[in-house]
Amino acid sequence: MAEFIVIEGLDGTGKTTQIGLLAKTLESRGKKTVTTAEPTDLPSGKLLRRVLSGEVPSSPWSTAALFLADRIQHNCAEGGIGDSLKNGLTVISDRYYYSTFAYQGSETDLKWTMDIHYSCPLVRRPDLVIFLTMGVDECLKRINANRPADAIEIYENAEALSRTKSLFEKVFDEIKERENVVFVDASGSVEEVHERIIAAYDGAFSE
Ligand code: TYD
Repeated sequence: MAEFIVIEGLDGTGKTTQIGLLAKTLESRGKKTVTTAEPTDLPSGKLLRRVLSGEVPSSPWSTAALFLADRIQHNCAEGGIGDSLKNGLTVISDRYYYSTFAYQGSETDLKWTMDIHYSCPLVRRPDLVIFLTMGVDECLKRINANRPADAIEIYENAEALSRTKSLFEKVFDEIKERENVVFVDASGSVEEVHERIIAAYDGAFSE
């Protein structure tokens, strides 16, 4: 069966590396997979990159709405999530609407960010969301080690990360009854975290 899986977590939690490894393991089990990310590479996502770098001014409310637009495109554009699932591919996305709840929800109104997504019929609900958890200090250490200073984005400072972390926790606590959420500890070696993610995946889809 083709599944739609989302990996979420603060910047620096190693989502991209872990998504690559998860895809590799699923492929080795004979599953066809595709990895994807938000913001997307579509025109809507490119505009968001310019907003995130501070180049294009945008209020948090319009940024949230732009993320919703990019997500609709991500689902519906040719070659997007919808097409991949239809073609039998398991889709693994680096971030999804939970990021808008946490990042833009802290700057606008959390309920509004949730409402605009849950009421939109074009925004698919994932079969599984894995939330990578880690302390803010460790996230910052990894961000600073991996990126030149001028590539660090507007949400990548200690205060913004702490705010986002609290909101992610609040959001997942609130939605855990209606969505398939698994928390995975992202500290430790790449291999250790990968094993935890595989255990979460197997636990979610074994029954
Ligand atoms: P990116 O460089 O892709 O970081 P990462 O590899 O950590 O995902 O940048 C994504 C940035 O976009 C990140 O700082 C969080 C932000 N973002 C939002 O604020 N809201 C959203 O809905 C999404 C998808 C991302």
